[in-house]
Amino acid sequence: METIFSGVQPSGALHLGNYLGAIKNWVELQNQHRSVFCVVDLHALTVPQDPKTFREKILSIAKIYLAAGIDPEKSIIFIQSHVKEHAELCWILNTISRIPELERMTQFKEKAERHKKDLNMGLFDYPVLMAADILLYKTNAVPVGEDQIQHVELARTLAERFNNYFGETFVIPKAFVRKEGARIMGLDDPSKKMSKSAPSAANYITLTDSPEIIREKIKKAVTDSGKEIIFNPIEKPAIANLLTIYSLASGRLIEDLQKQYANAAGYAEFKNDLSEAVVEFLRPLQEKLKELDSNEDVMLKILNDGAQKARQIASQTMKEVKDKIGLI
Ligand code: TYM
Repeated sequence: METIFSGVQPSGALHLGNYLGAIKNWVELQNQHRSVFCVVDLHALTVPQDPKTFREKILSIAKIYLAAGIDPEKSIIFIQSHVKEHAELCWILNTISRIPELERMTQFKEKAERHKKDLNMGLFDYPVLMAADILLYKTNAVPVGEDQIQHVELARTLAERFNNYFGETFVIPKAFVRKEGARIMGLDDPSKKMSKSAPSAANYITLTDSPEIIREKIKKAVTDSGKEIIFNPIEKPAIANLLTIYSLASGRLIEDLQKQYANAAGYAEFKNDLSEAVVEFLRPLQEKLKELDSNEDVMLKILNDGAQKARQIASQTMKEVKDKIGLI
């Protein structure tokens, strides 16, 4: 059975992009794979976190995994910092990572621009820690959105390099990216991806937004010139993005949706129906989240058990790595 590994940073409220680009796929993939899903808290430390709210943020991501349908009977769910091998392998991989290949990372360049004054070493090293996450579990496939492909490619490079230097140790992972939903764009600006760090909350729909807020945000979402509701990401990027969200939220084909609105007089009816599709799509997840809120002990036990299982695999890989490089 092939192994999949993926993770989300607890660095803010999760949005539809995270869900449609990543978590929704995990739920489907967990049935045919050995699945490992991590809350990558150490990654989130690369930007300042308030110690008073960080714990809640970390737990909220784990709750979303469960509410979305990740089943702890089928998948390992755990918190990155509970398995010390992640930081340990990161250090070893640092010694075979080259500075220019990290300088090339698009996300680093963007973040370096945003955090000019407090650019920390963790931001630079972020992709190496991500490679450690992936390689520790001998991962075959990494289900992620499009923005993480470059990081998974670095993990491949490091795995190949390590294997060349020290002998076959790591599985060479590949990114698993679905065509639809891999890059959900901002509602206020369809030229940029939907992002937690966008300056305006009009950019995204969070997984916990109320039906009223969802309706309001979709009503305000920018559209393209013209009235046709057609899927054309180049000429009509805003409508193409809304059609993608509609299709994934409702389970209907984009072609069907185009047909339904072929004679629409404008965008109003389309936006109304889209809002209801998103509200209904998120309803079960939001209901389960409420149940989990009153069940923190169960949540902590799942994370504890998950960490134990993850540790078994990670410590075995780490032992192999240490043997290969001659550590005593
Ligand atoms: P993060 O927390 O930024 O995002 C979590 C997942 O959501 C996807 N995503 C999107 N997909 C579609 N459209 C969007 N607008 C959008 N925005 C985000 C991301 O591609 C990602 O799959 N570095 C990772 C976390 C990580 C990780 C790992 C992932 C750490 N270690 C090992 C996989 C394997 C990150 O920051 O994701």
